[in-house]
Amino acid sequence: MLLRINLILLVAFALGMAAISLVVTSTLQENATREVLAQAGLMMDSAAAIRSYTETEIGPLLDDKMVTAFRPQSVPFYAATQNFLTLHKEHPDYSYKEATLNPTNPRDRAMDWEADIVQRFRNDSSTREVSGGRDTPMGSTLYLARPIRVDSGCLECHSLPSAAPATLLARYGRDNGFGWQPNEVVGAQIVSVPFASAESSAGRVRRDVLTAIAAMLVIVLLVVNASLYVLVIRPVRRIARIADQVSLGDTSAAEFPSGGGPEVAALSAAFNRMRKSLDKALRMLGG
Ligand code: HEC
Repeated sequence: MLLRINLILLVAFALGMAAISLVVTSTLQENATREVLAQAGLMMDSAAAIRSYTETEIGPLLDDKMVTAFRPQSVPFYAATQNFLTLHKEHPDYSYKEATLNPTNPRDRAMDWEADIVQRFRNDSSTREVSGGRDTPMGSTLYLARPIRVDSGCLECHSLPSAAPATLLARYGRDNGFGWQPNEVVGAQIVSVPFASAESSAGRVRRDVLTAIAAMLVIVLLVVNASLYVLVIRPVRRIARIADQVSLGDTSAAEFPSGGGPEVAALSAAFNRMRKSLDKALRMLGG
């Protein structure tokens, strides 16, 4: 009986563990992703803050200097990229890029996977944000991307070379970063943040949780076995042995034991009464 009960318990535990493992894994993975994407969102927002600071505070200061030579320091998107390049030196696995299909500055040109993201924004103007995972030489990373859309204020420098300031043409030439249309998505801000460490700590938590649950199940198994043995199996075996002796007419056989669980004790008591009645009946017959 113990073997059967153990088998049933083992199968139930295995199914339970599999279900718990699935739930724990997906919850931890979701949490890790959410946390890492929140970091990426924060970087995105600080890029926006740098842009607006540059536009409102730095741009006006450079207006008169721009007459003689173009100062990229006044360009909000330039300021954001420069800031994050500095951050990237300290934290090489964090990066920020204004990936653009036809950029003014060639360093901003979208690479294959970035161009795919820009295309997604171009194809569906309701998409505000996309995110996903990538394996890079630095390990696994998550990216968060938002579209860069042209408004009328951009056209002075990004529509036709003939409309652009001469100083801009002198610095960047007339071939790149022009021909942008109003309301067109020309690129995407793409933030990449490392995922490997969040992933591995999620893995550690998962292992610890599953080990703790497995240990608990082993203890449950041991306790169930011990209680079954003490409360049922041992007393029932004794009852069976004594009943065997009594059935063979052995009057010296011991009393049925009173131990075990209440049901077993009741059975034992019933056997004892039956045995007394039997003895009495035999005696009457004999006498
Ligand atoms: C005063 C001219 C000017 C205006 C106005 C301007 N830009 Fe630019 N923009 C530039 C220059 C110059 C660069 C390249 C800076 C550098 O060296 O990285 C640039 C770079 C960019 C970049 C980075 C990709 C690239 O082309 O190198 C994006 C994206 C961008 N601009 C978008 C915009 C948008 C959107 C607007 C309107 C909201 C806008 N720009 C308005 C001059 C301008």
